[in-house]
Amino acid sequence: MRRIESALQSRLFPEPARNQPGLEHGQRYTCGQASIHFGRAENLYADWPAPTCIISDGPYGVSGYPGDGHTAESLSEWYAPHVEAWSERSTPETTLWFWNTELGWANVHPLLVAHGWMYRCCNVWDKGLGHVAGNANTRTLRKFPVITEVCVHYIKAAHFQGSEGLLTMQEWLRHEWKRTKLPLRLANEACGVRNAATRKYLTADHLWYYPPPDAFVKMAEYANTHGDPNGRPYFGTDGQRPLSGDEWSKLRAKFKCEVGITNVWREPQVGGSERIQGTRNGMKYKFRSLHGSQKPLKFIDMIIQASTERGDVVWEPFGGLCPGAIVSCRLGRKYRAAEPVPEFYEAAAERLQRSASPW
Ligand SMILES: C[S@@+](CC[C@H](N)C(=O)[O-])C[C@H]1O[C@@H](n2cnc3c(N)ncnc32)[C@H](O)[C@@H]1O
Repeated sequence: MRRIESALQSRLFPEPARNQPGLEHGQRYTCGQASIHFGRAENLYADWPAPTCIISDGPYGVSGYPGDGHTAESLSEWYAPHVEAWSERSTPETTLWFWNTELGWANVHPLLVAHGWMYRCCNVWDKGLGHVAGNANTRTLRKFPVITEVCVHYIKAAHFQGSEGLLTMQEWLRHEWKRTKLPLRLANEACGVRNAATRKYLTADHLWYYPPPDAFVKMAEYANTHGDPNGRPYFGTDGQRPLSGDEWSKLRAKFKCEVGITNVWREPQVGGSERIQGTRNGMKYKFRSLHGSQKPLKFIDMIIQASTERGDVVWEPFGGLCPGAIVSCRLGRKYRAAEPVPEFYEAAAERLQRSASPW
């Protein structure tokens, strides 16, 4: 993959100072299967293993931390090389969690869709009334106080080659069955179901859902045994054989959710011992946090658990204090992050080291 350069990027995120003793671009801190790289993510994607989950918590266009761009409108241009790289390196098993302000997300959404990311759900972080403090003069602000951010869920949907171009999974299943020249109703017999095959797996409407691997295998076996001999194989992608159940199951993003979780996430800003404090001359500031955009470990744990399994790869391209590293280590996921600001990189590496240490 080509190295990504952009004039806009350098303008919004100037190369961080290199005078930090002992810190060199390209250096990384590794602990177990987690690596945090000092540098920009766009220079590293090509070397990272393919992601099962990408947690993007990059610029918001609100001057939230050193180098954050000033307007939400410029975000789409800023994210373009990143989104392009994510799309190139992802598979149909990949989930993207895109954190931003509502307006930042609105500006980047068309770019994500244009690169094949399919919108699933907008999760809203409600930080509660405590977040209003200092932000409540509505006479001056002339708007309701904002206490939210969003974490938007996307997947990299699989596409299939049809006779007249690329098809979605829903279109392809129907296309393959039609090629067999068998009546649609026989798909129910094929799958051993009353009507789920015609009403769900092969429907052209919004009631469609993904046939589980065992149903897919039965449908493919039936089609290849009884379907028009001239069109075989059916339900394959290489013209040689149908997909196996295992291959089929890898053509969509992983997802699991505990009962009771919704798309409204109520949690105050990170505080207490989880909040990483800033330092001056080696002394900790008493109240000042190091990073203005530190995410709660609770949310990062929730999205990693929802979209990955043990051994899977998590990317956190805009690491900050790298909450994904802490969670990935705990959960046995592989992890890659980048962070170009020396203070954040060092704090993230120290945090990971501390969390992995048994004492
Ligand atoms: C919103 S913050 C991430 C905060 C993080 N989620 C946390 O909980 O600590 C975005 C981070 O991206 C970093 N960043 C900016 N440009 C970057 C780039 N091109 N590659 C990697 N990181 C970048 C910034 O320095 C900043 O720390």
